[in-house]
Amino acid sequence: MILVFGKTGQVATELQRQGDVTALGRDQADLSDPQSCAAIIADLKPSVVINAAAYTAVDKAEEEEAMAQRINAASPGAMAGACAHLDIPFLHVSTDYVFDGSGTRAWTESDPVSPQNAYGRTKLAGEQAIRAAGARHIILRTAWVFSAHGANFVKTMLRLSETRDALTVVDDQIGGPTPAADIAATLLTLADHMRDRAKGGTYHYAGEPHTSWAGFARAIFAQAGRDVAVAGIPSSDYPTPATRPLNSRLDCAKLATDFGIRPADWQSGLNTVIKELNP
Ligand SMILES: NC(=O)c1ccc[n+]([C@@H]2O[C@H](COP(=O)([O-])OP(=O)(O)OC[C@H]3O[C@@H](n4cnc5c(N)ncnc54)[C@H](OP(=O)(O)O)[C@@H]3O)[C@@H](O)[C@H]2O)c1
Repeated sequence: MILVFGKTGQVATELQRQGDVTALGRDQADLSDPQSCAAIIADLKPSVVINAAAYTAVDKAEEEEAMAQRINAASPGAMAGACAHLDIPFLHVSTDYVFDGSGTRAWTESDPVSPQNAYGRTKLAGEQAIRAAGARHIILRTAWVFSAHGANFVKTMLRLSETRDALTVVDDQIGGPTPAADIAATLLTLADHMRDRAKGGTYHYAGEPHTSWAGFARAIFAQAGRDVAVAGIPSSDYPTPATRPLNSRLDCAKLATDFGIRPADWQSGLNTVIKELNP
């Protein structure tokens, strides 16, 4: 049995669509209670555990770092500890926000981490707790996740296009939009490899080609047939409680070398999501 923590989120929803998984929502597994998450694994003894739940409210985490830390670090650490005890592989999703966003080169897995906001600090602490727990694991860092469900940039842009014919969008943050469907497919493929005793480790997986939020917005409006003019602005003109990294490019070569998994084609993934939303 593949046990998934998370039920309603973007990646968790796609895992349930694509795989034969047992998904637990907040009512069955509350990540603010690490010991109960570990106990569920000990009780169910699945063949693989995938953690697709997280505290993902990036701005709110600035005020709620202790809660975000429990959900993003203590619970994944406790889950990985339970997996280590039972020799169960543990797969976890992390983020480009562990990096400081400097430079223009795509980040590799061995580059130094230095999160710039509370969410990034808690996600990094989660990675460290998982590595320390000693389970065979995969930490899959991704970025700019979108899908037809949940809260994401694509849905926000489509909603704004109902009432606006011009928007200003940040154009100095660069990254790879990533369809949740492709992240789920990658996790399920990696779960098979891990059951076959692959070594695991930390990997990057995101969409290509790299673009800015403004570039992504233009692609959304073009594909959805919305006539909205997008003017690029610097991040300094769009202040948010949490600082975002300017360079979110993830180098995904290691995943291709070790597992033959290529970066997601976000333009094609966007087409699928827009058809599903049928705006
Ligand atoms: N979204 C992005 O752009 C992005 C970028 C990089 C990395 N990631 C990472 O990718 C992974 C999946 O993200 P996503 O976009 O699929 O997330 P999402 O759509 O925001 O969903 C988060 C999920 O976590 C659950 N959750 C939150 N607090 C919980 C708690 N205390 N107990 C149990 N469940 C809880 C939520 O349940 P409720 O519905 O009950 O709240 C929801 O199912 C996360 O690890 C995230 O850090 C995301």
